[in-house]
Amino acid sequence: MSTTFNSNTTRFGSGRLTRRRFLGVAGAAVTAPAIVPSSVFGANAPSNRINVALIGCGNQSRVDLPSMLRQPDAQVIAVCDVNRGSDGYARPEHFLGREPAQKKVNDYYAAKTRSGTYNGCDAYSDFRDVLARDDVDAVMIVLPDHWHALATIKACEAGKDVYCQKPMSLTIHDGQQMIKAVREHKRILQTGSQYRSNAVVRRMCELVRNGRIGEVKRVVSIINGSGSGPGPGWKEMPVPDGFDYDMWLGPAPDARYHIDRCLYRFRFHLDYSGGQVTNTGAHSTDIVQWALGMDGTGPVEFEGQEGTVWPPSGHLYTTAMKTDFRARYANGIEFVCRTQDPGFGARFEGTEGWVQFTVNNMREVEASSEAIKTTVIGPDEIHLQVSNNHYRNFLDSVKSRKDPIEPVEAGHRTASICHLGNIAMQLKRKLQWDPEKEVFRNDDEANKMLRRPYRKPWQI
Ligand SMILES: NC(=O)c1ccc[n+]([C@@H]2O[C@H](COP(=O)([O-])OP(=O)(O)OC[C@H]3O[C@@H](n4cnc5c(N)ncnc54)[C@H](O)[C@@H]3O)[C@@H](O)[C@H]2O)c1
Repeated sequence: MSTTFNSNTTRFGSGRLTRRRFLGVAGAAVTAPAIVPSSVFGANAPSNRINVALIGCGNQSRVDLPSMLRQPDAQVIAVCDVNRGSDGYARPEHFLGREPAQKKVNDYYAAKTRSGTYNGCDAYSDFRDVLARDDVDAVMIVLPDHWHALATIKACEAGKDVYCQKPMSLTIHDGQQMIKAVREHKRILQTGSQYRSNAVVRRMCELVRNGRIGEVKRVVSIINGSGSGPGPGWKEMPVPDGFDYDMWLGPAPDARYHIDRCLYRFRFHLDYSGGQVTNTGAHSTDIVQWALGMDGTGPVEFEGQEGTVWPPSGHLYTTAMKTDFRARYANGIEFVCRTQDPGFGARFEGTEGWVQFTVNNMREVEASSEAIKTTVIGPDEIHLQVSNNHYRNFLDSVKSRKDPIEPVEAGHRTASICHLGNIAMQLKRKLQWDPEKEVFRNDDEANKMLRRPYRKPWQI
């Protein structure tokens, strides 16, 4: 049974009439479109505005929501979370969930009105109710990874464009289905790997692409480590009031509730995510893929290494505490993914030098020589697509109907490397991968790990 909250709202009209008829959303009052004070959206006529809904109001929404609110041609009209609002998030001082997110949106727009009041953002607990609204043009999927595929596919089927947080998928199969949905329904999907919209990263990738370090021999996807969570004997906890745990689990296997299973910490459970390999690793690996121009493919060989450390038996977390795997692209470039605290980033080593970017030094590209650092990339050399704001880039794509800087295929390939690395670390042997057919060669056991069963009734 789905529910909506704060039905006592006004909704805005716009020129996008095909999406403007409100569907019968259970519990929500259907009201005539209200007149929007021009102070709220300035020069942006309603017909130019993109109506956005936020699905997932947790940790990363603290970045994604204000970033979208700041875009003058976007209007956040709905938020959705299975959590009404609680202190179960990453840090005790965080009070997140749908009600605080709704308040944040209403307060933001209210501050721009003369009256100082605004009540136009609806809050939902079931994302299907959000997707049923004709007036939602785009959704931001800021859910745990095990929900990315289902929510994206249903959003595409409902005709919405999607900003989907990284890692784009939980499994290779999920990613393939997401591509299918985006392309079949002619939707825009931006993967939330925002380092592609960072000028320093772009500069480093252009240095690599234009041969400034010579022939690339080795790349390192540098990632963080993580802990083991509660130890043996951890006890099931009562589900907090206002938290729909069954809907949080969704397609994932049934499991006893513990605070360290869900909000934010889901990333340290293989059932919902891939640990640091898909957490910070989705960023650093994405930078590698972009720099090497490998967006449509990936390495052909993967091997778990001795430095991998798994949580001791009986601990709640199941993802690698220390990552160490190696891969090889068909052109011979060696790919290394390993834990190297603190921070994350990517390093490229070539026959004539190296370059590196880490979050510890976001101001500049580090390089083996001053000459590499200061070299000018000429007008006839390779210049990568320029995006200085990932959200802006997404909205521009929604308007132009041209792919954004990280379309679904690129997001899939980056996530694939993370998933394949995790599989190689678990199986502890060398695996041959066919990036065209997207199967392991002669390895049934490994191929079974490319897909996970969905808990009923969920399916894609
Ligand atoms: N791009 C980045 O730099 C970056 C940084 C952090 C997280 N992320 C990504 O953002 C996503 C969310 O991570 P987070 O750290 O915000 O986690 P989080 O647990 O803090 O937030 C996720 C939210 O989704 C809600 N949720 C879960 N299932 C739901 C459902 N079926 N319907 C509605 N709401 C549901 C949870 O209640 C929670 O509030 C992850 O994929 C993560 O990898 C990206």
